[in-house]
Amino acid sequence: MNRDWNHDFTAILEEAPESEPDRQRFFIARAKLLAEEKSAGLGRPLTCCINTFGCQMNSRDSEKLMGVLEAIGYVPVEDEDADFTLYNTCTVRENANKRVYGRLGHLGALKKKHPGMIIALCGCMMQEPQVVEKIKKTYRQVDLIFGTHNIYKLAELLTQRLLSEKMVVDVWEGTDKIVEELPTDRKFSFKSGVNIMFGCNNFCSYCIVPYVRGRERSRNPEDILDEIRRLAADGVVEVMLLGQNVNSYGKTLEHPVSFAELLKQVTQIEGIERIRFMTSHPKDLSCELIEVMKSSRKICPHLHLPLQSGSSRILHIMNRRYTKEQYLELVDRIRQAIPNISLTTDIIVGFPGETEEDFLETMDVVERVRFDSAFTFIYSKRTGTPAAEMDGQVPEDVVKHRFDRLLTQVQRISSEVSGRDLHTVQKVLAEEVNSHDSRLLTGRLSNNTIVHFPGSPNLIGKIVDVRLDEIKGFYYMGTLQK
Ligand code: SAH
Ligand code: SF4
Ligand code: F3S
Repeated sequence: MNRDWNHDFTAILEEAPESEPDRQRFFIARAKLLAEEKSAGLGRPLTCCINTFGCQMNSRDSEKLMGVLEAIGYVPVEDEDADFTLYNTCTVRENANKRVYGRLGHLGALKKKHPGMIIALCGCMMQEPQVVEKIKKTYRQVDLIFGTHNIYKLAELLTQRLLSEKMVVDVWEGTDKIVEELPTDRKFSFKSGVNIMFGCNNFCSYCIVPYVRGRERSRNPEDILDEIRRLAADGVVEVMLLGQNVNSYGKTLEHPVSFAELLKQVTQIEGIERIRFMTSHPKDLSCELIEVMKSSRKICPHLHLPLQSGSSRILHIMNRRYTKEQYLELVDRIRQAIPNISLTTDIIVGFPGETEEDFLETMDVVERVRFDSAFTFIYSKRTGTPAAEMDGQVPEDVVKHRFDRLLTQVQRISSEVSGRDLHTVQKVLAEEVNSHDSRLLTGRLSNNTIVHFPGSPNLIGKIVDVRLDEIKGFYYMGTLQK
């Protein structure tokens, strides 16, 4: 053990390099020494657990956070009763926040029986000042709070916490920084999310994401392509390009590059067999993108195209910047170019001022487009967004009734369209052993539909031919083709 160890954080700060990622590499090494000391005292390795709420953006962030924790020497465990437990939070709807508060009580109880346990919170919820205030006041069991803009600083913040008994809080309002090249621990060996941009400039009037994730920033195409090349070399066959609105990728770069151009370059990377992306805002989905999708067999025939509402009047107040007609026209154009495409969507019910007529417009679009699946949400008022101040908040029982009708329709259509490849042989990426029946593997078609089929775990990560024998609601049962 290193005995000339300096236990003063201020002194350590003076030694730390200024530039990133060197600074964090330095703190990873520092935290590692502290962790080794703790672990030697306990006579066992230190454990860590990350619980991720929210979207793919958060999942990807958690992989980066886990990469840093493992580099420090923590061993990942499923159980939240770990030496370091981190919640990566989401605040897109109120119920996401409620879940976190609920579980913090439980973590506090665990900590009482687990001396030295560190409880940390990060992610979108922590970008809301009133949330941080509430935690500081009511949830004193929390040791460390940081936001969405400085997740790369985990090693530095953890070092600080390990050397003091005080709650460490570091939340930034915004950033123009993108820190590359810190360790990452991928959840799956064969597929990975890849951030292509951060933040959002769209300010849909109901949405809190632009406030908690900051302004739109695109990564340099070369950094993205390098990352994907490294992933491919490491056995990844599928990448999901991530951004709140991938269709506006590259607009703010010094040398602007369109999303379609980026996508084309990703298709050139050897070893990558499947390319997905999320999310596409309908307002700037280009003809160029449709052409690129059509011309590459690697780009999965799936588009997640959030509708939000079918009423042009509501779409206008939502600040979505397209009409019902434009959305339908776009869907027609996509389907003409790529007839087998799978379309999925997000829909909000009960936006302020939504009338029965507006709601019926949404039902009409759902009926006409026939989405493969749709995520349906009850409108949730988010403090600080324009919609929170709007008149005409819809009564709960009315919203609930509309929500149920929409869900029934979405599910009926989904079960009707999902079976369209029945009795054909399709390429399936085998992803995991089925959680209910270990004789089965679970995989996905390129259009993202789930397939269960008998097979051995050594096929995981491989793309195999499977005959689709039976459709059960939204998934298939199949047989492996030799
Ligand atoms: N950037 C993506 C969506 C990110 S949030 C896009 O523009 O499509 C994911 C989904 O959450 C949104 O599509 C929307 O349907 C839903 N959502 C966002 N804010 C919401 C709110 N205040 N209440 C209910 N649902 C909301
Ligand atoms: Fe929110 Fe709209 Fe940005 Fe999506 S595009 S994250 S819904 S503001
Ligand atoms: Fe939630 Fe933040 Fe994603 S608010 S949906 S985790 S960007």
